[in-house]
Amino acid sequence: MATTQVQENVLREEGRLPRTPEPGVVVIFGASGDLTRRKIVPALYDLAAQRRLPMEFAVVGISRTKMSHDEFRERLRKALEEQRPGQVSEEVWDSFSKGIFYLPGDSKDPATYEELKGFLKKLDDERGTEGNRAFYMASSPSLFPTIVERLGEAGMSREEDGHYSRIVIEKPFGRDLKSARELNNDIREHFREDQIYRIDHYLGKETVQNILALRFSNGIFEPIWNQHYVDHVQITVAEDIGVGTRGAFYEEAGALRDIVQNHMMQVLCLTAMEPPVAFDAESVREEKVKVLKAVRPIPRDEVKNVAVRGQYDRGWVFGKEVRGYREEDDVAPDSETETYVALKLYVDNWRWAGVPFYVRTGKRLPKKATEIAIQFHKTPHTPFSGNDTQGLEPNLLVIRIQPEEGVSLKIGAKVPGSGFEIRSVNMDLLYGTAFSKEVPDAYQRLLLDMLLGDPTLFIRADEAEGAWRILEPVMESWAQDGEVAHYPAGTWGPEEADKLLARDGREWRRP
Ligand SMILES: NC(=O)c1ccc[n+]([C@@H]2O[C@H](COP(=O)([O-])OP(=O)(O)OC[C@H]3O[C@@H](n4cnc5c(N)ncnc54)[C@H](OP(=O)(O)O)[C@@H]3O)[C@@H](O)[C@H]2O)c1
Repeated sequence: MATTQVQENVLREEGRLPRTPEPGVVVIFGASGDLTRRKIVPALYDLAAQRRLPMEFAVVGISRTKMSHDEFRERLRKALEEQRPGQVSEEVWDSFSKGIFYLPGDSKDPATYEELKGFLKKLDDERGTEGNRAFYMASSPSLFPTIVERLGEAGMSREEDGHYSRIVIEKPFGRDLKSARELNNDIREHFREDQIYRIDHYLGKETVQNILALRFSNGIFEPIWNQHYVDHVQITVAEDIGVGTRGAFYEEAGALRDIVQNHMMQVLCLTAMEPPVAFDAESVREEKVKVLKAVRPIPRDEVKNVAVRGQYDRGWVFGKEVRGYREEDDVAPDSETETYVALKLYVDNWRWAGVPFYVRTGKRLPKKATEIAIQFHKTPHTPFSGNDTQGLEPNLLVIRIQPEEGVSLKIGAKVPGSGFEIRSVNMDLLYGTAFSKEVPDAYQRLLLDMLLGDPTLFIRADEAEGAWRILEPVMESWAQDGEVAHYPAGTWGPEEADKLLARDGREWRRP
């Protein structure tokens, strides 16, 4: 039976239906750009399709390109259609796009903000958006401080009469510890920490959140999740693609800043943290910060022993010959930018003392795979003969974040037949088959949480700074000396990375 709006409201109030955000406006700075087109607006459209947005909702885009409201809407509609051909509902788009507006303007110009202020006031009157605003920074990071300052000067960061004013910030959160601190200080001149939502889209992924579900909703894992049982941990973010059209961006960033500082440090935190007292923003983020504080600082002269940087050369991926990094568009022919990083880290606390966390990421590796592998100790003794247990490996728990999202546990089992030959086999859980529900895109989840005022899955200032602090000596050392190691595209990284583990008598997994 179809529920009426009144029935729906009653169910929501009773907590039997998910909460809907309050009326409000999302203002996007960088509205003509890639992120708006590919991620932000499709996620908002999906929320509208699921009736998770209030009727009194609007999107206002700002960038310098001259466009009318209708031209902006048409551009977004086209991008959505390209992303999911034939699947855009006319009914949903018609109603959603009536709330989309565009203001051409330079983010540096105070006049843009005066115009925006007037326009938002008008929307409050006409669409009932009630003075609630979320400002999304989807333009170049160098503009963030200026936009924040202008918003502050125009009085738009103030929360008055119970209305919210939030700011959403995309990575990179600075380039190093110093610039991250400066950025945080600049923002905090106008916005309180609880108004700031720093997005790391990894935290919006279902399978990343599932690390917490696996650890803290099952009684069997937590007792063995420590140095008594775990030999070491490997965290891998492997990509088969190269830098593509993003050569100029990548030359500035490199794999350490682009992937390790944010996504991998977050995954490390979720894997290593203590159980939070509650699943709320402060409890979860407090535990993550404790992990970052416990990561053993790397002395500058030790960097070469615990960190490897690599760059892909020409090679073969999926049977196709591909260019080397230095041959990519907008990349210097003598570039030393790393497209591969491997690190060995320790989390110095009671739980993890002596357990290495090996972390690696790279482009142009043989396949796309993001996973956490928890390698347990060998059995202390086996009653079976050496011959029978040749095919037996220690237990291994793998949490696959993407693709083939799921969990597998490697266990020893008897090979059928006479004798007692034992071999390792996998027990597999595939999320795709366990739940028939479609997995929502990370941006959808994060935008909804932000509109609901829940910052649990967003990065706090001290988390961003804590991650930079760990990597600071590595960046300093690489900036001064040490050449980048090379690996052919389509292989698992430079030899130096294999040696990093071989020195400890271990080897990398092949996901
Ligand atoms: N794209 C992604 O998948 C992705 C993923 C993670 C994080 N991010 C981050 O998200 C942000 C946006 O990335 P993007 O890929 O969307 O960049 P982009 O395609 O280059 O878009 C930049 C936007 O900023 C606008 N802009 C530049 N200067 C301006 C000014 N002075 N005044 C007003 N608008 C200005 C541009 O529009 P006009 O030229 O029309 O002014 C354009 O709309 C960056 O911080 C990036 O690091 C992006």
